[in-house]
Amino acid sequence: MVRITYDKNRQLFHLENGSVSYVIALAAGKYPLLLHWGKALRTVHDDLLARRCGFHGGEFTLHETPLDRLPQECPVFGWGDMREGVLQARFADGSECLDLRYLRHRITDEQPDLGDMPSARGEHSKTLTITLRDETTGFEADLHYTLWEDADVLGRAMTLRAAQEAVTLERAYSFALELENSNYTMITLEGAWARERQWISRPLVPGRQATGTVRGASSQQTSPFLALTAPGANERTGEAFGFALCWSGSFASTVDVDQFGAARVMMGVQDFDFAWKLSPGEVFHTPEAYLAYSENGLQGLSLACHRFIRAHVLCGPYAASERPILLNSWEAAYFDIDEEKLCALAAEARALDMDLFVLDDGWFGHRDRDDSSLGDWVDDKRKLPGGLKRLSERVHGMGLKFGLWVEPEMISPDSDLYRAHPDYCIHSGNRMRVENRHQLVLDMTRADVRAYVTEAITDALTRAQVDYVKWDMNRNINMIGSAQLPKERIGEFHVRYILGVYEVMRTITSRFPNVLFESCAGGGGRFDLGMMTIMPQAWTSDDTDAWMRCRIQYATSLLFPPSCMGAHVSAVPNHQTGRFSPLKTRAAVAMHGTFGYELDPAKLSAEEKTAIRACNRRVRAWQDILLHGEFYRLQSPFETDAFAVMAVSRDRSRAVVTYVARETLPNTLPSLLRLAGLDENADYRDEDTNLVFGGDELTRRGIPLPALHSDYDSVQFFLRKVEKE
Ligand code: GLA
Repeated sequence: MVRITYDKNRQLFHLENGSVSYVIALAAGKYPLLLHWGKALRTVHDDLLARRCGFHGGEFTLHETPLDRLPQECPVFGWGDMREGVLQARFADGSECLDLRYLRHRITDEQPDLGDMPSARGEHSKTLTITLRDETTGFEADLHYTLWEDADVLGRAMTLRAAQEAVTLERAYSFALELENSNYTMITLEGAWARERQWISRPLVPGRQATGTVRGASSQQTSPFLALTAPGANERTGEAFGFALCWSGSFASTVDVDQFGAARVMMGVQDFDFAWKLSPGEVFHTPEAYLAYSENGLQGLSLACHRFIRAHVLCGPYAASERPILLNSWEAAYFDIDEEKLCALAAEARALDMDLFVLDDGWFGHRDRDDSSLGDWVDDKRKLPGGLKRLSERVHGMGLKFGLWVEPEMISPDSDLYRAHPDYCIHSGNRMRVENRHQLVLDMTRADVRAYVTEAITDALTRAQVDYVKWDMNRNINMIGSAQLPKERIGEFHVRYILGVYEVMRTITSRFPNVLFESCAGGGGRFDLGMMTIMPQAWTSDDTDAWMRCRIQYATSLLFPPSCMGAHVSAVPNHQTGRFSPLKTRAAVAMHGTFGYELDPAKLSAEEKTAIRACNRRVRAWQDILLHGEFYRLQSPFETDAFAVMAVSRDRSRAVVTYVARETLPNTLPSLLRLAGLDENADYRDEDTNLVFGGDELTRRGIPLPALHSDYDSVQFFLRKVEKE
């Protein structure tokens, strides 16, 4: 049960769910300071209060105790604190001073109203809102704290309100959290196209360490997530803190280590290029951010995040259900498609016992390459004489579901839409329009553009029988200008763009409530919690190479459960890396995500086809665990030449273990792989070998790995608890 209490005498807020506690003190009744975030506390001693607040019984004055030393919950530059704060507000006279003091608080069962900003769902939670006010300007900040009953996760957001004076927000992050010391290792997820989310760790050092993007998307290059681990912490033990932002656009994520060695963590919408005007009475909501805590290392942190995301972020009928095994036409045929070819692919998919055929790029306008037709969501009758309608009917007639690729936010200069509305794209006056993948970005801040996109996509999804949509976005935003926003509001563009995207996505997903939506952005360029509030899965990377996927999926699992990660088996040599890896390895890795294929089945041998059918049976039988079980990382492909993970059912009666070796070494002793998450008092039988092992020996000694025969070879174990007689 969540309890939020306020001790009036000691001016102490305590949020607690029996597992974690967040304790805030109001220093001298004015400034909220963090006393504790971590394992649940029963009480908070006065000494802790005094020491952490930096004053000892006497009256707290700014003169004696500068805010510079204090762990403030809403630090603002320009009022005693010489560090960067969570908020920067500029008033008409140019001043940026805010003395934000406690005004009131509210404790409710309701989630905070964050307007159009994405947030987790609020069931089984309680929210504390502390309102701070600057007397001089009347400016107010609501600090929202939501704690869920079943998660070691705290939601944080702010609502900022202008009163008698207009104000321009130059920074409006979602939270600041100050840890007493900086003896932490920081882990972030950095990368590039086809190399998304690589696990990068480094010790915190004095000064600022930051990640973030100004690309208009959460990006392939970095991720709105960071973790901090305490000294000695590892996968299984020790304290770990996680921070994630529910936002799909440009963001900032910083850790500042100050002169006293305290570490201030902040995250929010990117403030570079940001300025949001508030007239008196107007509010700005930040997106929600999540603070996760574990005393069981990074594995514990990930389990907490996965449980939270499953229970409170993912929505729609597919969130907790199994997903169709699909064949996607992209790596099978790229743009070289027509109705007959597509039907032949679909027939192969059916023969291989798949559930869904996905028509990727190339079906609309006259898109024979990637240089035209985005925006013209009309059937290309040269390729589809019977349109999407007939194709989808034929696919359905084969007993398959039908899926469709769209890239709604984009416009090709070679398109009817562009010829009719050259102003629809984001552009800066008469300057040259800089293309990327030959395309421009639609100005989703404009209501007329959003209306066009919504209706065009609705129409495409209505004229065909569509069961699945892959919603792509293949370039980032620059050359910002706006035909509609007044020039003094151009600093609102990036945020308004994403809010526009969310609006269109929400409208379309609610018009087609039974369709499975997968987001995508040139691979994993918008793999974030904001997207996951609308679409329950995302294409993890355009890199389908098994070893690269080991790394990408391993690191992505720090925050996301496997059910969020689109993962497909592709052909060899791999189209991105040229690498050969055995089919069983490609399948084993893809099984730890939403499973499918991205190849031309006609090019497979009879033996491979048999293996694929068997694999699909396996996936179906074990998918509940693979997607929705507890996911454990066993061996890191970033630290070793192997990748090992496992998925365990919640009742610990079944488990799938996957081990991939990058390199096969001759003449070695057999090795053991230690498992996790099993019932140590139970025995488990491996479905393939029939060998029975004790849960304790699997956990403490490990499962014997067979000899592997080639680089990128792999082995899987499908374990079932042996029922006691
Ligand atoms: C992006 C996607 C790919 C594919 C292509 C089509 O790169 O990530 O999976 O859909 O676009 O153009």
